[in-house]
Amino acid sequence: MMASKETTTLKSRKAARIDTEITVPPDKSISHRAVLLASLSNGACTITNFLEGEDCQSTAKAMRQLGIFIESPEPGTLVVVGNSGRFTKAFGDIDCGNSGTTMRLMAGILSAQGFRSRMVGDDSLSKRPMQRVIDPLREMGAELSADGDKSCPPLCIEGDRALHGITYRLPVASAQVKSAVLLAGLFAKGTTTVIENVRSRDHTERMFEFFLIKTKREEIWENPNSPKTRHLLEVRTTIEGGQIPESRDFAIPGDISSAAFWLVASAAQPGSRLLVKDVGLNPTRTGIIDVLIRMGARIREVIETSLHGEPVGNIDIKGTTLQATTICGAEIPNVIDEIPVIAVAAALANGITIIRDAAELRVKETDRIAAVASNLRAMGVTVEEFPDGMAITGGSPLKGARLPCHGDHRIAMAFAVAGLFAEGETIIEDAACVNTSYPGFAEALRHIQKGGHIKGSTPVLSGFKSPTP
Ligand code: S3P
Repeated sequence: MMASKETTTLKSRKAARIDTEITVPPDKSISHRAVLLASLSNGACTITNFLEGEDCQSTAKAMRQLGIFIESPEPGTLVVVGNSGRFTKAFGDIDCGNSGTTMRLMAGILSAQGFRSRMVGDDSLSKRPMQRVIDPLREMGAELSADGDKSCPPLCIEGDRALHGITYRLPVASAQVKSAVLLAGLFAKGTTTVIENVRSRDHTERMFEFFLIKTKREEIWENPNSPKTRHLLEVRTTIEGGQIPESRDFAIPGDISSAAFWLVASAAQPGSRLLVKDVGLNPTRTGIIDVLIRMGARIREVIETSLHGEPVGNIDIKGTTLQATTICGAEIPNVIDEIPVIAVAAALANGITIIRDAAELRVKETDRIAAVASNLRAMGVTVEEFPDGMAITGGSPLKGARLPCHGDHRIAMAFAVAGLFAEGETIIEDAACVNTSYPGFAEALRHIQKGGHIKGSTPVLSGFKSPTP
């Protein structure tokens, strides 16, 4: 992105009392999938409230490179004309930018296209592991390899092998791997089943159902009839190959992972009140609400409607002095993207918050355990780092600091929120990466910092629709 250093710096200071309502940008995970499913479908689909962040633009650009007609009649709207699962060979490499979701989900589709493809990414994506998609896709008969060190991108896919269905138990809880296998399953002969021991986000499955792909979903429980002791053993998702999504229009709800920044800002400020409107409330994504409730925040979550298979509604939150909690086990995939800002909540809470079973954070856009620990320490917080998490001793005053974000959008935004509670100014360097998932974050930050009381401004912010005043 061409921008001066000045414009890419995020600055924050102690916030006034928050009393406002906001909307947040469209959901990133759902936006990626909407473009992919529409491109695979048998006709024209209009996608509204599409996230115009850089990650989802990478997916749309890739689809165009593969011969799909996509136009944007107005900001946030895409008309995608699907070609019934057929694509044409891209001219040159497909650039996935910073987006692991683009590369991993497309690996499933490109494995069955009858032509060779090569996907590349930026410095951060070039360090992210691809073996996790290579293994199951090879089992399905695909020929692909990662040409970087330690199975990192570029990812080269021959595409001309016939795929067959498999039953695959996910070794890591990953919606990206699950989705890659299910997308490949559309092109495979026979039945493809993915088994998860821990439930990950289920947007692909819901969207398959919405686009009329026949999908079978089963949950296997221990003690299924006892609400207190029942325990989810596995989730199985099965599809038959040879199905083409039926073209449909699709609208995308607000992203709870973007709302998480303001939920924490409000939860940790005694006396605050925040209403987040029109946000996705898919239960595989709402773990942040459970965590903040355990920490003492008062939260009311109201599902207003089901938008094309996804629950959508409002979150009403009142802040307080937070208390420490423990986050581990099956809850981790549900809060994986929110952990940087949950760590900030932990630094503001009384007691020691423990985060475990989250080794996946080490292979995100940056090593998020190391980045969170070092930034919190720079703000005066005691943090013990574990291979799979950290222990954060909360409750001491935060000091403003100049902090790196390592090109990671969620680290940049989490620490801009920390700055709302710190003495002095907090400066996040090289923060242009926020555009990956949250165009308009700087305006939203200013709005929240003033408690929502900017004279003459509208209280409702939308990530990309509100121009800079
Ligand atoms: C995503 C899944 C998660 C998440 C990422 C988006 C998706 O990654 O962290 O931001 O849209 O499927 P993993 O599948 O690697 O856990």
